[in-house]
Amino acid sequence: MATIPPDVQKRETAPSTDAGRGAKTTPDEAPAAPPTVKLDRANPEFLAGAHAVYSGLRAQGPVVRASFGTNFTDGARAAGSPERQTQGASEHAWLFVTRYDEAVEALLDERFSSDFRTGMTPEQQERAAAALPEEFQPIAHSLLMLDPPDHTRLRKLVQPNFTARAMDALKPRIQRLVDELLDKAERAAAERGETSPERRMEFVEAFAYPLPVQVISDLLGIPVEDQPQVHVWAERFLQADPQQYMANHEARAGMMAFTRYLEGLFERKRREPTEDMISQMVHAQEDGDRLNPRELLSMVFILFLAGHITTVNLLGNGVVALLTHPEQHARFLADPAGMAKGMVEETLRYWGPVDFLGSPRTVKEDSALGGVHIPKGSKLTVGLASANRDPHRFENPDAYDISRPDAHRNIAFGKGIHVCIGAPLARLEAQIAFETLFRRFPKLRLAVSADSLRLGVGAAMRGFKHIPVLY
Ligand code: HEM
Repeated sequence: MATIPPDVQKRETAPSTDAGRGAKTTPDEAPAAPPTVKLDRANPEFLAGAHAVYSGLRAQGPVVRASFGTNFTDGARAAGSPERQTQGASEHAWLFVTRYDEAVEALLDERFSSDFRTGMTPEQQERAAAALPEEFQPIAHSLLMLDPPDHTRLRKLVQPNFTARAMDALKPRIQRLVDELLDKAERAAAERGETSPERRMEFVEAFAYPLPVQVISDLLGIPVEDQPQVHVWAERFLQADPQQYMANHEARAGMMAFTRYLEGLFERKRREPTEDMISQMVHAQEDGDRLNPRELLSMVFILFLAGHITTVNLLGNGVVALLTHPEQHARFLADPAGMAKGMVEETLRYWGPVDFLGSPRTVKEDSALGGVHIPKGSKLTVGLASANRDPHRFENPDAYDISRPDAHRNIAFGKGIHVCIGAPLARLEAQIAFETLFRRFPKLRLAVSADSLRLGVGAAMRGFKHIPVLY
């Protein structure tokens, strides 16, 4: 847990220098990255003050060394690593890209592999696979962790579901869900005898969480009556501490049960296809060899889980950002429909849900980035939040400004072949949500002081756990 200090805006600004900017060197000439800094996401204070830390790192150079806590694939990485006798799963130093231009360059560089098995011998790969818990296997083979050509083949299969036309078709459904959730919150307040503007709502629980979960469940074709059970399994997994995961029997059993449930659902959709993504994918599977059973499971898992915490956090971060910047709040209230798009982009830039890539790239050959030597075999992550506050890309980057003309240049969704496939959906959900919320409840405000709001920790995510509001 971490708190957002009241002076967050002041603390988030630190001096920046031009060290290494514009340098063009060959991999051999380039100097190594500066020594390791610890980006301790398990430390309650880290995320709250992270933007000041990132600012200091940008001043040090475009690429620095950083160590992090563990994530779910670290056990497998360590098992498959040639140095496994000496290197434990807990203390890894990764290269950390701090600045915007180099972040974009790194995300577009095909020498940086997303597959953690890259560079391992077949024997090491086998050890790595054996070290992964069975129920985690599908996630370790998801789009996020594949390189071309498998990545290209699988991404092509689902991409048509996220086009502008597909999003247009989804709009009425999302609007209806948004209205239903707000109606429900109003009814609950009325039952408690509360009246406007003193009605209470826990924004995350009543709105930010259920909206994206229902949207993605519908899109995939998880029947409404099964959604509460699926929600329990997913939550146990998402709330699990990665460092304790192997001993967390509840989370592991939940994932196994979720897997068995999905296999049963695939069977049902095979027999009686409906208008949804799972039916489409089951059909694609029968059509030829475009998708094997493990790939089908991986795809459903990643689509279901990837959009979960991220979109929840975008909704929460946007509400808190707006409510804690009175001038921006007033501008938004004057024209919610006109400002919604800009407000969503600025929230992604200012407080994007993913601070840095939780799953690092593996460097396939000696390279250079911003004049820094990137040795073959190193692990490299990209500081999306740091890049989005780079003063060389965004003027006055620590200000929250919903009409910032270039806010849409943020890289909160990544870039390149792995750019978030769900970005159009997350953007659409957030635009409809903010516009409707502030139009229907113009008196909406925080029920507690901003500095008492707590950030959840873990997995490089930025988002508030609870947001009590009055309306
Ligand atoms: C505000 C909400 C979201 C944020 C900030 C976000 C962020 C990201 C980022 C940064 C990546 C790239 C990771 C990398 O390069 O390694 C990514 C990939 C991905 N996201 Fe999202 N995401 C969001 C919502 C969603 C939603 C709603 C879905 C599902 C419908 C989704 C599904 C995916 C998938 C499947 C990938 C992997 C794509 C690939 O590897 O080709 N995300 N997301």
